[in-house]
Amino acid sequence: MQNYPTKTNLILHFLSGSKRYFALSMLFAGLVSLLDMVNPKIISYTVDSVIGTKPAELPGVVERLIANVGGAGALRVHPIWIASAVLAIGVLAALCRYVFRTMNTRGAETFVRKMRDDLFSHIMYLPYTWHSENSTGDIIQRCTSDVNTIKRFISEQLVQLFRTVIMIVLALIFMGRIHFRVMLGSALMIPVIVIYSLIFHVKIGTAFEKVDVEEGVLSSIVQENLTGVRVVRAFGREVYERGRFEKQNTYYTSFWIRLMTITSMYWSVADILTGLQILFIMLFGSVACIHGTLTVGGFIAMTSYNMMLIWPVRQLGRVISEMSKAGISIERLRYIMNSAIETDQDDVGEPPLDRDIEFENVTFAYANASSPVLRNVSLTIPAGSTFGILGGTGSGKSTLMYLLDRLYNLGPDGGRITIGGADISDIKKDYLRRNIGMVLQEPFLFSRTLSENIGITKSEKNMDEIRRAAKIASIDDAIESFTSGYDTFVGERGVTLSGGQKQRTAIAQMLVSKPPIMIFDDSLSAVDAETDMKIRHAIQESTGSSTVILIAHRITTLMNADHIIVLDKGKIREQGTHEELLAQNGLYRRIYDLQTAGIDDSEAGI
Ligand SMILES: Nc1ncnc2c1ncn2[C@@H]1O[C@H](COP(=O)(O)OP(=O)(O)OP(=O)(O)O)[C@@H](O)[C@H]1O
Ligand SMILES: [Mg+2]
Repeated sequence: MQNYPTKTNLILHFLSGSKRYFALSMLFAGLVSLLDMVNPKIISYTVDSVIGTKPAELPGVVERLIANVGGAGALRVHPIWIASAVLAIGVLAALCRYVFRTMNTRGAETFVRKMRDDLFSHIMYLPYTWHSENSTGDIIQRCTSDVNTIKRFISEQLVQLFRTVIMIVLALIFMGRIHFRVMLGSALMIPVIVIYSLIFHVKIGTAFEKVDVEEGVLSSIVQENLTGVRVVRAFGREVYERGRFEKQNTYYTSFWIRLMTITSMYWSVADILTGLQILFIMLFGSVACIHGTLTVGGFIAMTSYNMMLIWPVRQLGRVISEMSKAGISIERLRYIMNSAIETDQDDVGEPPLDRDIEFENVTFAYANASSPVLRNVSLTIPAGSTFGILGGTGSGKSTLMYLLDRLYNLGPDGGRITIGGADISDIKKDYLRRNIGMVLQEPFLFSRTLSENIGITKSEKNMDEIRRAAKIASIDDAIESFTSGYDTFVGERGVTLSGGQKQRTAIAQMLVSKPPIMIFDDSLSAVDAETDMKIRHAIQESTGSSTVILIAHRITTLMNADHIIVLDKGKIREQGTHEELLAQNGLYRRIYDLQTAGIDDSEAGI
């Protein structure tokens, strides 16, 4: 796996593919700055040598060009030529600016696309444990807001920094060539303004971060209330929630006001400092003019260059302070990109999985828990049989299945799980999971159509297969009752399925893929006893040679299984067939009596 030891490594990785665009954009940014330097030169020449009579100090090429058209005298007769030169430079600069901007935009978009693609595919392959340890909201924030901060920094601020430095260097060189000491007067103020804006931008940055955090809190209140709108209504919590929102909103506003106050102060003082810089140029420039060391044209050019400097110099402080923000964002992405993705060992295989499943002395504790949830569990699930797991809430039923699917891995002393004698850690993960179908306890459906959801494991949609599976799972009637039938959209902008309908859709999903191992984790808990029975019978007829694992709280759901275990606090308490367990007169019997008390046989589904 690739590892990124430093922030620069990661940035360079993301930059592959967009580097050439940024290189071109910087080249053209440099050209723009250079062309911007020409106009003040033309003005100073016009004032001194065309309007005035002073001999000009121009580069050889330019001097020869002017001599060819008849010298300063000819320009006096045809001032349009000077105007045309200004226009030509302007057009050229505009062209360069256009190339600079398009290259920069292309670079930025290519860069940000690579960032998103890489992050998404990396996150897709991160282990389930990583996902359960990291909050979804935070991951999304990293992939959107942090990605944008970095994009802005690379495409705007870094280029800006480059342009600013070029601009300052060029302007100072041009000024220095006209009058060195007056140039120093302007240069003197640059560090003062940069340091001043740097200090302020750090302050602004801190205030901005607070605004950002409070904005996050405010939007999570909104998000929570929109998602949980039913709870808010049902419990009459509107007034309370409005109060909570208003309080946070006031708090958030106060931070904005504080931020704006700091910003206004910054701009006002910065204006004074800039004014001082202009004052220095005026003062030193006019003194030099009076002493005859600077021409009037030179003086005008000096003030133009100085004006060009003011904005970039102010920006320098901002760019530097933004750099620290981008640094934090890169670090947050580095955390994701450096998290180890799921990999297989070198010698993994793809053995047939329609074989006996064996748990041998399985002991397992979650990373953040102090005591194990499974203790010394040993069991055999014969191939092609139906195996029932009964147990109270939190007894470890789902955990057993997560371990079989390798969503969590057993520790070195945690025993082992084998299928047909092969340790599951020697089986290719992808292959293992493709062959174990799991109807999760809380099924998740994508915001797609019902037919797409049911046929999700198949690359090609086969409506007959989907309908057949839906019929077995007893969801066909409900689907047909929707106006769009199988094309009904599920999710936020579509229909909301009931808990039982969701479970049955998930069952149909599994029946379409027909894996050799099928797990139903409490999959019939949200359907009534009669439907439960109907589905069970239909499933039994259609599972064929698959090994079926049924997890349930309700005995009727799994009483027909070939073998049943009773799990209690992570340990197997009893096992056998339904009849054997009843005869044992233990926990199973007690649960059975409780569940059937007062219910006649037909209602209990027997
Ligand atoms: N990711 C996790 N991190 C820490 N503890 C967990 C995690 N998942 C489950 N647990 C704990 O492990 C125990 C067993 O959970 P499990 O989901 O296996 O129970 P279950 O038998 O499926 O219960 P239920 O019938 O309610 O679904 C519980 O005490 C639960 O709190
Ligand atoms: Mg469970």
